[in-house]
Amino acid sequence: MVRTDLMQRLGMTSPVMQAPLGGGGDTPAMTAAVSNAGGMGFIGAAYMTPEAVGSASEAVRERTNGAFGINLFAPQRPAPEVDGQSALSVAAPFFTDLGLEAPTLPAVSDDPFDRLLPAALESGARLFSFTFGTLPEEAMRALKSRGMFIIGTATTVAEALALAASGVDAITAQGGEAGGHRGSFDTDGPGAVVGTMALVPQIVDAVKVPVIASGGIMDGRGIAAALMLGAQAVQMGTAFLTTAEGGVPEVQKQAILAAGDNDTRITRAFSGRPARGIANRFMQTVDAGGEGAILPFPLQNQLTRPMRTAAGKAGDASCLSLWAGQGTRMSRRLGTAELMAELDRETDAALKRASTLLD
Ligand SMILES: Cc1cc2nc3c(=O)[nH]c(=O)nc-3n(C[C@H](O)[C@H](O)[C@H](O)COP(=O)(O)O)c2cc1C
Repeated sequence: MVRTDLMQRLGMTSPVMQAPLGGGGDTPAMTAAVSNAGGMGFIGAAYMTPEAVGSASEAVRERTNGAFGINLFAPQRPAPEVDGQSALSVAAPFFTDLGLEAPTLPAVSDDPFDRLLPAALESGARLFSFTFGTLPEEAMRALKSRGMFIIGTATTVAEALALAASGVDAITAQGGEAGGHRGSFDTDGPGAVVGTMALVPQIVDAVKVPVIASGGIMDGRGIAAALMLGAQAVQMGTAFLTTAEGGVPEVQKQAILAAGDNDTRITRAFSGRPARGIANRFMQTVDAGGEGAILPFPLQNQLTRPMRTAAGKAGDASCLSLWAGQGTRMSRRLGTAELMAELDRETDAALKRASTLLD
């Protein structure tokens, strides 16, 4: 059985943290099953209302007495004013194909962090994780006074150093293989895409807090390798999406199970921030649309939401955000509890195999 200092501190018997899968990928049944298996389940709450955070966390607490985590996006700069006409016209034919009315320019709304933080503090979650930056000092203080264990997300050593200086308890090192949004602090440029194999040991060397490896880890071989790189736990997202408890539409599960190793791309087409998903017609069309075809985050996310919802219901993979990491060929259709048991078995086997390599 694997044991690390971080696992002991958090009472975990498995090194597996289920990644927060905001937008409906995680479900209370999944989160609780991971925590019940000795890992750490998370609620991806960034797109929820405060009321939904309350009911999701209650549903998790009904299913487990174990610790679990909750995740939000760090507060973002307000989206700049944009004309938006080219983004609307590139997206419009996809709306028409789905029988939807033509898209309209979304209104700029307040950042939801300040509304959601109180709900996260009241959720009963023992851990709080976040992505897209550092947290304001006030939020750090509020989380600490609740005794919550705070985890930030870094895609580079510089981001990890900024998080460590802000007082986080641990850092998730998100490698370029990872599915879903890149945690990069600054998205004005192309964003960092350092692979997990290179990123984890460089962050481990740079900071004193424990590091959690994330990105492309799908089975016990990946978990064992991450531990060898100095990580004290792993965070896995794509591997949980295809479980019975996974909340994504069936068509997305099928796309992940069928995808090859080179079928994903990083795109801003769906939300305005770089994220990795399986390439499809919407992604390719919008990415080829040139300057102005994509609104800044979160406006593009709001723009594409009705299309994504309708596509999920219609089982149309061509314009759904098929978030997935590069490890798709290793994905499996299992129950969450079964997957957790397999992962622990495989990790033990991989570590035993590793010890036989020594002469
Ligand atoms: C569908 C999906 C939704 C995600 N939502 C979030 C989120 O809300 N917050 C977050 O910090 N990370 C989110 N991530 C990123 C994961 O935390 C993690 O970095 C990633 O899944 C790891 O790579 P893997 O998918 O190859 O395991 C999401 C990933 C996916 C695939």
